[in-house]
Amino acid sequence: MQCVYIAVFCLLALSIQTGAGLRCWSCASSSDRHCGDPFNKTFFHLRDCDSDRSPQTYNRLTTPVCKKLKQLSNEQEVIERTCVWNKETACAPSSVHTSVKDVFCETCAEDGCNSAERFASATLMVLLPTFLWALAAKFL
Ligand SMILES: *[C@@H]1O[C@H](CO)[C@@H](O)[C@H](O)[C@H]1NC(C)=O
Repeated sequence: MQCVYIAVFCLLALSIQTGAGLRCWSCASSSDRHCGDPFNKTFFHLRDCDSDRSPQTYNRLTTPVCKKLKQLSNEQEVIERTCVWNKETACAPSSVHTSVKDVFCETCAEDGCNSAERFASATLMVLLPTFLWALAAKFL
């Protein structure tokens, strides 16, 4: 019984920890058309979010997330993939230009998760600890 407790605790600790050392795709279709959809990973490398955390964005209280933004700029689709450090403001309207319209914006917290059309990982992050507790309850 003791070892089940320990195993569940370790798995929970791991599932909470995943924000650390996050790596995201970082590119913009305006400067590289391969950054658009469908995303072709062979042209890019995952970027370690902590390595491009600048003094301005540095804040120990925030955990990086990956972001994918799709905008219409002068009728042209522009896709941007980046690391961001504030999940709450990540998808706030950034532009006052009426020629730029946000079409789609989403954040996620798993390595390379901003490659997809839509993300499913946020759901998994909520369900995983729940699942582990359910599993523990069954064994204890
Ligand atoms: C990505 O690009 C490479 C090189 O052009 C190509 O060989 C590969 O099939 C492409 N992959 C996808 C998923 O489109």
